[in-house]
Amino acid sequence: MQNTDTFNIEKFIAARNFNLPEGSVSDGVLRHIYEIGKSQKLVNTVETGCGRTTVILSWVSQNHTVFAKVDSSNRDTLEADWMNPSKVSWTLGPTQKTLPQFDFKTKLDFVLIDGPHGYPFPELEYYYLYPHLKQGGWLVVDDIQIATVQHLFRFLKEEPMFSYDCTVDGNTAFFRRTAAPVFDPYGDGWWEQPYNLNHMPWKIRTKDFVKRRFPWTITVNAFIKRRMSSSRPAARQ
Ligand SMILES: C[S@@+](CC[C@H](N)C(=O)[O-])C[C@H]1O[C@@H](n2cnc3c(N)ncnc32)[C@H](O)[C@@H]1O
Repeated sequence: MQNTDTFNIEKFIAARNFNLPEGSVSDGVLRHIYEIGKSQKLVNTVETGCGRTTVILSWVSQNHTVFAKVDSSNRDTLEADWMNPSKVSWTLGPTQKTLPQFDFKTKLDFVLIDGPHGYPFPELEYYYLYPHLKQGGWLVVDDIQIATVQHLFRFLKEEPMFSYDCTVDGNTAFFRRTAAPVFDPYGDGWWEQPYNLNHMPWKIRTKDFVKRRFPWTITVNAFIKRRMSSSRPAARQ
């Protein structure tokens, strides 16, 4: 077992005696997370899925919560010699079940989404986690090369609640929570999200804009349509 003073990330990366789960983040991402944790105080952190990232976060977080399924990859993590177990709490089971039931009592400094990647699971995890991030907190999304995650990534790049920081080694994106108010998780509000407005076909966008800015045009249009249909000659029998 290591201790806080003796844990050496380069030794951990080089050791390779840790069974790598399928799809582990790159060594560069591990270093990047470690640097963030060394330069900023990470009090409460969360990750979905587990693996080498759990080891790193166990050394830089004061209270790291892991939501993961029990399978061969995380059984190794649970037993990993490299881990700082006193800082890690496990919520075992599919995140599709555990996240909605979890009672978040504190705001989060760091969230890593790297659990199930099939549609719509990364977005489902985002839904249950985004309201709890504190201003300045980190949101990290792994595997943005997968279409489902790429979709979330594109959304986040245009989302006022987050500012894009960087992508490390092509696959792992880092965002920071801005001061924008939390998007109401129980409302609708699609029209407030720049992602929707920016990607709307221009015809619909113009029609929508005119309707919102000049609502009286709806009445005028309806009147014109009615007049035109009443003045149209009756169809031949
Ligand atoms: C890509 S690995 C995580 C790798 C880890 N972040 C790392 O870099 O070492 C994906 C993890 O998600 C877990 N997982 C897959 N489906 C899950 C689900 N439905 N709920 C919870 N965890 C899940 C797997 O057990 C695995 O630990």
